[in-house]
Amino acid sequence: MSALFSPFSLKSVTLRNRIAVPPMCQYSAHDGFINDWHLAHYTGLARGGAGLVIVEATAVSPEGRITPGCTGLWSDEHTAGMAKVAAAIKAGGAVAGIQIAHAGRKASANRPWEGDDHIAAGDPRRWETLSPSASAFGANLPQVPKEMTLQDIRRVRDDFVATARRALEAGFEWLELHFAHGYLAQSFFSPHANQRSDAYGGSAENRGRFLLETLEAVRAVWPEHLPLTARFGVIEFDGNDEQTLNESIALVKAMRGAGLDMLSVSVGFSTPQANIPWGPAFLAPIAERVRREAGLPVATAWGVDTPKLCEQVVAAEQLDVVMVGRSHLANPHWPYYAAKVLGLAKPSWVLPAPYAHWLERYEPVGPQ
Ligand SMILES: Cc1cc2nc3c(=O)[nH]c(=O)nc-3n(C[C@H](O)[C@H](O)[C@H](O)COP(=O)(O)O)c2cc1C
Repeated sequence: MSALFSPFSLKSVTLRNRIAVPPMCQYSAHDGFINDWHLAHYTGLARGGAGLVIVEATAVSPEGRITPGCTGLWSDEHTAGMAKVAAAIKAGGAVAGIQIAHAGRKASANRPWEGDDHIAAGDPRRWETLSPSASAFGANLPQVPKEMTLQDIRRVRDDFVATARRALEAGFEWLELHFAHGYLAQSFFSPHANQRSDAYGGSAENRGRFLLETLEAVRAVWPEHLPLTARFGVIEFDGNDEQTLNESIALVKAMRGAGLDMLSVSVGFSTPQANIPWGPAFLAPIAERVRREAGLPVATAWGVDTPKLCEQVVAAEQLDVVMVGRSHLANPHWPYYAAKVLGLAKPSWVLPAPYAHWLERYEPVGPQ
């Protein structure tokens, strides 16, 4: 019996296995609208066998996009396109999730393959970015953001709420708030980005306020029976890690109390001066600690992507769900491959019948 291929239930939703495709931006939208690329991409991923497919960071407002190619749900006009994506994921047998996001001071950037840096001053595609304080990330992202007023804070929180409503209307059943990776919410939490002296800055409680209030406001419109999750960078690897972890876990506990159902544990990426110990499943022990101390199910990504390692971290109850990202880009049928490697009987039945029928009778050699 494989732990990785056992079902996972959260609220009224059941994943057919513990494999999730984490949100991965395609940077291929126009004015936030999805197109055939996204449909083909998400259809293929869901067909590949994962239990959960989470649609890429989708902006709650135009200035919340990372790049001009990011998807959005800031207007009702975006809903129909996203409804097609949600339907395609469900047709493939996966649960349809979406991550909603505001990129904060990391917004207004070029696509990764076009520089991955801020759009140059004077370029008409550049826009004003927002952050808790007027301080830039640095390195390849030097644009100084506007310090948000209290009115800006309320407006962005309301944008998250309106976007969550549209996600529900589009048919998504799993909502992930992007509170990680140095984007807006993570910037409120991180002293690397937040130097405010009002109720949203200073103490850990104040730095967590935007995240908690946004979660509470979204929970009020996101149905109680559907999972509301967040991705949050609980650690920066900046030399202050024990304090950051303790503060993070306290905030996660408060969010759990406010209706958070699960956490995708990640890195803060709030400063270019971090020293991240990349390696296979390097976040799994940290995720396990969050799981134990905050008392809620967890997932994580970043090098948790070989079948045996995935099986191991789920069987050991370090993670409830594994997020397999780039390996799904390399092989959208990664769950089928994993089922074979783990020696499951009839692994081809991870795939839909038009593929499974043939693979059951003829075993392809695969990569040599
Ligand atoms: C092309 C690409 C786009 C990504 N976009 C997002 C995103 O929209 N939201 C997010 O939280 N993480 C994003 N990430 C990070 C992934 O979700 C994941 O954490 C990362 O790829 C590490 O997992 P892996 O080692 O299995 O690839 C992205 C990563 C890639 C490669």
